[in-house]
Amino acid sequence: MRTCISVSAILLPLLVACSPDGGVGRTYTAQQGVTVYEPHGYDASQHSPSPIFIEELKPSAQEFEVSEKTGGLRPRFSSAFGKNTVSIEVGDADLYGGGEVRSDLRRNGDSQILWNTDNPTGLLDNGKRMYQSHPWLLGVRKDGSAFGIIADNTWKTVLSAKGRVKFRSEGPAFRVVIIEKDSPQEVMVALAELTGKMELPPLWALGYQQCRFSYYPQERVMGLADTLRSHRIPCDVIWMDIHYMDSYKIFTFSPEHFPDPKGLNDYLHALNFKSVYMIDPGVKAEEGYFVNDEGMAGDYFIRDADGNVYGGKVWPGECHFPDFTRPDVCSWWAGLYKDFMATGADGIWNDMNEPSVFVGFGGTMPDDNVHKGGVNGLPEGEHRRYHNIYGYLMVKASREGIMAANPDKRPFVLSRSNFLGGQRFAASWTGDNYSDYSQMKEAVPMSLNIGLSGQPFIGPDLGGFMRDCTPDLMRHWMASGIFFPFARNHASVETIQQEPWAFDPETEDICRTAIERRYKLLPYYYTLFEEASRTGIPVMRPLFWHNPKDLSLRGEQQAYLIGNDLLVIPRWSESPVLPKEGWNRFSLEEEDDGYQSYLALRQGAALPITGVFQNTVEYHTDSLTILVNPDSNGRAQGYMYEDEGDGYAYRDGIFARYSIEVQNAEGTVNLKMNRVEGKLDKGPRFIRMGYVCDDGVIYSQWARGDGVSMPEPKSSKTAIAAENLEFVYLENWSISKKQTKMELIMSNIVK
Ligand code: GLC
Repeated sequence: MRTCISVSAILLPLLVACSPDGGVGRTYTAQQGVTVYEPHGYDASQHSPSPIFIEELKPSAQEFEVSEKTGGLRPRFSSAFGKNTVSIEVGDADLYGGGEVRSDLRRNGDSQILWNTDNPTGLLDNGKRMYQSHPWLLGVRKDGSAFGIIADNTWKTVLSAKGRVKFRSEGPAFRVVIIEKDSPQEVMVALAELTGKMELPPLWALGYQQCRFSYYPQERVMGLADTLRSHRIPCDVIWMDIHYMDSYKIFTFSPEHFPDPKGLNDYLHALNFKSVYMIDPGVKAEEGYFVNDEGMAGDYFIRDADGNVYGGKVWPGECHFPDFTRPDVCSWWAGLYKDFMATGADGIWNDMNEPSVFVGFGGTMPDDNVHKGGVNGLPEGEHRRYHNIYGYLMVKASREGIMAANPDKRPFVLSRSNFLGGQRFAASWTGDNYSDYSQMKEAVPMSLNIGLSGQPFIGPDLGGFMRDCTPDLMRHWMASGIFFPFARNHASVETIQQEPWAFDPETEDICRTAIERRYKLLPYYYTLFEEASRTGIPVMRPLFWHNPKDLSLRGEQQAYLIGNDLLVIPRWSESPVLPKEGWNRFSLEEEDDGYQSYLALRQGAALPITGVFQNTVEYHTDSLTILVNPDSNGRAQGYMYEDEGDGYAYRDGIFARYSIEVQNAEGTVNLKMNRVEGKLDKGPRFIRMGYVCDDGVIYSQWARGDGVSMPEPKSSKTAIAAENLEFVYLENWSISKKQTKMELIMSNIVK
């Protein structure tokens, strides 16, 4: 057969590329530094409403000053062989983001396919198409100024950063949104303003989590809970993978293995655990199974191009798939959670939602399956248009269901598949990885780039999912991975056990120490999650965040930052490039086991930590250690956020935001911790200062806020060095003593 390619198909893109306007039609400013470029002949109905943006973009009524940089990037649109491309010359900027991909942190020279794919261990296409898609790149210029590029398009797209940035879509011509700001931080804030933010998760979701495919029967889950507690491994969540179900039928419990889900959840709750259960999208195509029957009766399932209800194989065998583009289907789906959550389930894990269909490696449903549309006004369309947002729409509906079922609790949904903007609905993990050193290491740039794509709540399966983990790998992975925003140990069905105690006592001790570090740092983590929920700034940050003008940090992908102040240097890292000065290393333990990551505190930072807790129910901040590393002017600053840890009272002001200010002058170190916002009054508490020096931490004595008797909280290590340490208490907790060397001033002022 001869293939005919018209001359115009070849020439037109060339002509467009050469045309002075680069194929750009309407252009407008939506916000300060946010410009929308539409190609000539742009048909909005092909892409709108966009799932990416929280509000439809429109020209701003306000006149903005046009900075030199705004408009510096000129998209060029072209069209050939049915594909639409935008290409943008970005100079020598360093590029990041693009969501989930196996790659270096710096994306320059790389490419990927934005097509959500069940791609265990990233073997397919060498991990250049993964479980979630983010048509987005962040660019950081040599001078530290930054830009972001959003290709507003859900279709299969090749994102390439080889020389120019290119998005080549199989869908109709699409618009591009370019954010221009003075720093990558500002770009991330602008991205979040456009695409939404993760809502503040419940505190328990920040704890350590234990998972396996699968813990069953329910007695084994209870046994696991007992062992975690008896071995003193701090843990908040136990996960139920597909074996809890009856023949993998979602929203059911195996009568044989999980006859009493309520009893199980009660048992877990009594031990201060939360439970998270898996719900996949595939509904077993079995008559008499209530979810399938309801779906068939309501005509809720996706149909193929011939109008038949589509069937595809997943874990339960032949399955039907809810059409989450339809509002009635979403309400039905959301409603299914009511009885399910009533068993006491605390969170939901939506998996296989690319959607994965077992038709070969990376399989999914046919492109021409039909989605009826309606959600937010989405029109009817083929699967090829909606594939990349299938998971996004699913978790949106799941979240609504969980919130309706438990209106007083903050929802927690974990999703494998998602799309740019999907941080509004669910946290993510990076999918199935290998228990090997290279995948442990590549989880760092992968998670950093997902964070730089708007999703702050991310992490890999700690210990690795497939293949057997080894003691050495487990120690390294826990010691370096416990700091990821989402910290869950998960392993596949065919592997050896992977709990911290499953190897040997030494490995268990090392894992415990790592997990204890996470709990000690919870005041800081919660503060960062709250910040992310307010600003969109990721919790886990690349090192260049510290100083976007320091070009040496641009490619560092072994060491990483948690917030601005905590530097994590994995023990396995080889010659990481670290900020040049000012970061003082510290340890949270007296002895070094050889595996725990090196930690360093930024100069000028004050960072709150607590002691060890076994879970977040027991957790409190009645005693805090403020680690400080004053700058050359003797100053250090930090802040801390806290609230009730769940529920919504924080929205009515029941929270506290403290500013922490440290001043070191003439040998006296002053620490002030002021409540600057919020109505939550925790009353007096114990505070001590941990002065991070080059060679360790000097701890002050504990001081109690009300100045009354001062039985010290048990401290693991006290270097209550100087006899001449004295304290001054101010405000409503006042007593005062003569100060000599270190002064701790605490106040509880609401401004
Ligand atoms: C998928 C998930 C994995 C899960 C398994 C069984 O492979 O990625 O996390 O354990 O399915 O449900």
